[in-house]
Amino acid sequence: MPCIPWKAILPAGCLRESSPKTNKRVVAKQTSFQRLSFSDLSDPFLVEDLSLSLGSSLHNFTLSELKAITQNFSASFLLGEGGFGPVHKGYIDDKLRPGLKAQAVAVKLLDLEGLQGHREWLAEVIFLGQLRHPHLVKLVGYCYEDEHRLLVYEFMPKGSLENHLFKRFSISLPWAIRLKITIGAAKGLAFLHEAEKPVIYRDFKASNILLDSDYTAKLSDFGLAKDGPEGDETHVSTRVMGTHGYAAPEYVMTGHLTAKSDVYSFGVVLLELLTGRRSMDKTRPSREQSLVEWARPYLNNSKKLNRVMDPNLDGQYSIKGAQKAAALAYQCLSHNPKNRPLMRQVVEILEPVQDLKEDIVGPFVYTAAMENARKPDPGRSAVKETKIPNGGHRSRSPMSPTKAYSDTALYKNSPRHKG
Ligand SMILES: Nc1ncnc2c1ncn2[C@@H]1O[C@H](COP(=O)(O)OP(=O)(O)OP(=O)(O)O)[C@@H](O)[C@H]1O
Ligand SMILES: [Mg+2]
Repeated sequence: MPCIPWKAILPAGCLRESSPKTNKRVVAKQTSFQRLSFSDLSDPFLVEDLSLSLGSSLHNFTLSELKAITQNFSASFLLGEGGFGPVHKGYIDDKLRPGLKAQAVAVKLLDLEGLQGHREWLAEVIFLGQLRHPHLVKLVGYCYEDEHRLLVYEFMPKGSLENHLFKRFSISLPWAIRLKITIGAAKGLAFLHEAEKPVIYRDFKASNILLDSDYTAKLSDFGLAKDGPEGDETHVSTRVMGTHGYAAPEYVMTGHLTAKSDVYSFGVVLLELLTGRRSMDKTRPSREQSLVEWARPYLNNSKKLNRVMDPNLDGQYSIKGAQKAAALAYQCLSHNPKNRPLMRQVVEILEPVQDLKEDIVGPFVYTAAMENARKPDPGRSAVKETKIPNGGHRSRSPMSPTKAYSDTALYKNSPRHKG
């Protein structure tokens, strides 16, 4: 993949040549509890000590500190790799910096490619640096040194939901855990949508839902997040960005973003949890490749629902609960965004489902996910075949809107945006 040095593309004056500490601060200082947003920055590409503006809980690490805690980003500390670059595990404590709480962290190295990479790094720092909630992953700090951009998060011991649902040799998640994850993620989205300054997350998908040791779900990756519409506006107009298979069709077609776009993506993840299938899977027969198109007719049909339920659940779920969850997914996936529920309502619908246990026999038995184990990771190979940039990760290029409405023919990725 050709990599244009980002310094070559940034407009004149957007680059800081010397050490971060020697430059004047250009970020507006927060005067009240109001969250600082992108538009509050005098120049979103000139960023100085963000920790001063965003609060002292955010640490501005040096590159050498982050090298030290990850053994120079060694392969043995690699946790995974997304569209933006590798993520390594590390440990921090007060030997690194006085006052630092001893904890494991995940260090994400952004593979900067032009302005978009820096913009997404900054969005992550600005949103996650200020938003705190039990269902959002905690940003511990960041590094901004020359062309390097890194993010330091709390370490999530159980990794991503994607790994649990779809990776080879993963253990099938029991029904109760699936519900717990769904409700946690829904609460995270509801919090964003109902914040004093609402936030549209725009990249809700299984790989961005991280799991704590007790399967508490936390949303990560705020690179594509947007401030919600203000005043009388009904939507935010944006370039279409997101991930194949999760983005709401009306958003892909028009670029009009609303909180209801997140609700659609939530519906897709709920469907993945019910069926154990990826949102897009090019290894399946053509009519089954789009999960939404394949599953939709079954969701409101109590007699046929079992045909799409994940076989790895081995029947160990409440039938009534599954029917309620499937009907909710159907609503979230409505063509008309107005018919989709609010995330708050989603939480209200799902919480009582946890108490339905009539068809679940005995203690949960963890069964090996044989169907997935036999196959080479379907989603990843599917992505290669369809040449979606970033190996199925979110597209850093705008997605081209399409004219005709169809769930399967919605996406066409334009060539990578070069600034
Ligand atoms: N805080 C964390 N704790 C533990 N593991 C993490 C953490 N953050 C990321 N990871 C691991 O790193 C992997 C890559 O994450 P990353 O967000 O970069 O990519 P992605 O979500 O797979 O794709 P995308 O680039 O589209 O977001 C995750 O799937 C997860 O396994
Ligand atoms: Mg991610």
